[in-house]
Amino acid sequence: MLKYDVVIVGAGGAGMMSALYASKDPNLSVAVLSKIFPTRSHTGAAQGGINAAMGYRDATDSIEKHFRDTVKGSDFLADQDAVEFFTTHMPELISELDYMGVPFSRDENGRVAQRPFGGASSPRTCYSADKTGHVILHALYEQCLKNKVNFHNDWYLLSLSVDKGKFQGLVAMDIRTGEIHAIQAKSVVIATGGFGRVYWSRTTNAINMTGDGTAACFDVGIPIKDPEFVQFHPTGLASTGVLLSEACRGEGGYLINKDGERFMARYAPEKMELGPRDLVSRSIETEIKEGRGFGDGMGSYVLMDLRHLGKEKIMERLPQVRELAMDFEGVDLITDPVPIRPSCHYMMGGIHVSDYKTCATPIEGIHAAGECCAVSIHGANRLGGNSVADVVLFGKYAGLGARDTAKKRSFTDAKKLQQDAENWVKKFKKMREKKTGINMFEIRDKMAETMWYNVGIFRTEKEMQKACDTIEVLLEQFKEAYIGDSSEKYNMAFINYVEIGNLLKLAKAVAMGAINRKESRGSHSRGDYPTRDDEKFLKHTLIHNEGKKYRLEYSPVTITKYQPEERKY
Ligand code: FUM
Repeated sequence: MLKYDVVIVGAGGAGMMSALYASKDPNLSVAVLSKIFPTRSHTGAAQGGINAAMGYRDATDSIEKHFRDTVKGSDFLADQDAVEFFTTHMPELISELDYMGVPFSRDENGRVAQRPFGGASSPRTCYSADKTGHVILHALYEQCLKNKVNFHNDWYLLSLSVDKGKFQGLVAMDIRTGEIHAIQAKSVVIATGGFGRVYWSRTTNAINMTGDGTAACFDVGIPIKDPEFVQFHPTGLASTGVLLSEACRGEGGYLINKDGERFMARYAPEKMELGPRDLVSRSIETEIKEGRGFGDGMGSYVLMDLRHLGKEKIMERLPQVRELAMDFEGVDLITDPVPIRPSCHYMMGGIHVSDYKTCATPIEGIHAAGECCAVSIHGANRLGGNSVADVVLFGKYAGLGARDTAKKRSFTDAKKLQQDAENWVKKFKKMREKKTGINMFEIRDKMAETMWYNVGIFRTEKEMQKACDTIEVLLEQFKEAYIGDSSEKYNMAFINYVEIGNLLKLAKAVAMGAINRKESRGSHSRGDYPTRDDEKFLKHTLIHNEGKKYRLEYSPVTITKYQPEERKY
């Protein structure tokens, strides 16, 4: 049996930052499991930048302003103690990343460059052209190799083992060989990213964003917090949903309807295209609904126009965006406006973290960081540029937390862990031998369609009930799924099967959280309850997995400084 003091699951920004910090203690063995090669992790899709109040571009910016913008952006559902901790520590973290070798773009004084982003009262998004997440991943990977972190790439988390409320280890598959391993550990950091693939056909998320760690935590009794808050990024490419960075609007891009109008003047007269994402996405969808978009049905869109920025600026600041628009939409945005429509981008909710300073969850030994969890600093709506910031900052503190947990604990007995691993071996065999059943990809596609149409940008009771009912049917059908691949090595069909099971579980939590929140707040916009209701719903949703039935409870929001008020942009 493999044994490490600290195991990190996921090798994106949060996972590698955790590994780096846990591995600073030479007495601890640290391993990272990743289902893909680390530098291909989804953090690489965070194009536009990382927020920190450096005050380089605007000397009036401050930690206080970043704190206030984040709370306001969250529609007052963020925990303000966690937000203050986050915004206070971000400037030193940018210097740390700079020192590690992240090649940030520079301003005319040689300092890290900053650009405007949505919902921010000062331009505070630090960037590296439009490849910010990508370069951070590379720097972190190099630092982890320097620290001799053990990487198990192409390893897939199957489950966590917890006995009598204590973490024992985890079960994972080496995808290349098909071997299933029990791994004993004193602590674990779950850093597996979000689960945007619940909206399979229209998301900016990579195909691997299937919420594996979130589902594994949910299965061992850790609740999911605020799953109903799903961020739709305003500018997904129209035909594929692939992300066109908010940096496009940050650099001055316009949103145009079919009458040639910059329609954001109607919805956010002051901030225009730089309103927060929830507001801009709803504005685009309203334009389409009211007949001012182009195209029909799923093919509807508005335009993003960057032509006035000129070739030189586009090539310097947005080279990858240009390539993406050419490759996936066939449009050169130097000469033509590009069709866009909102696309599922980010899950504000996730694994319930009970202590933001260590990223500990309610189960001793299990920590979590990044999009897979809710600390919660994003509340009901995350600001662009606060995600990479979240992953590196809380990745660091999760790594330190897991290090301290590992130092306090010893290896427990591993009976439950061994039993769990044996059960997975049997399940893998059974699924390989199964010859008939329901096509799992049809189940997945039905889930995605159901979620897009019924738990999307605009929601009503009737539609969400339909989603809840359909997901129950799909969960039943999933018991009869077959994978159609009998191979032992590199059986990606089996991995897809486990992933779809995870997505279904999480889709049910999203729909349940949404139907029970009878108000509109941040990204959760209900036609039947169009206003925010602080009296009844200024609280976090917590959903517990009790088998077929989920249990709903609510917990208070921490408010320290900013009392809820109307959000105006
Ligand atoms: O639009 C973007 O570049 C994405 C950034 C983010 O989600 O923070």
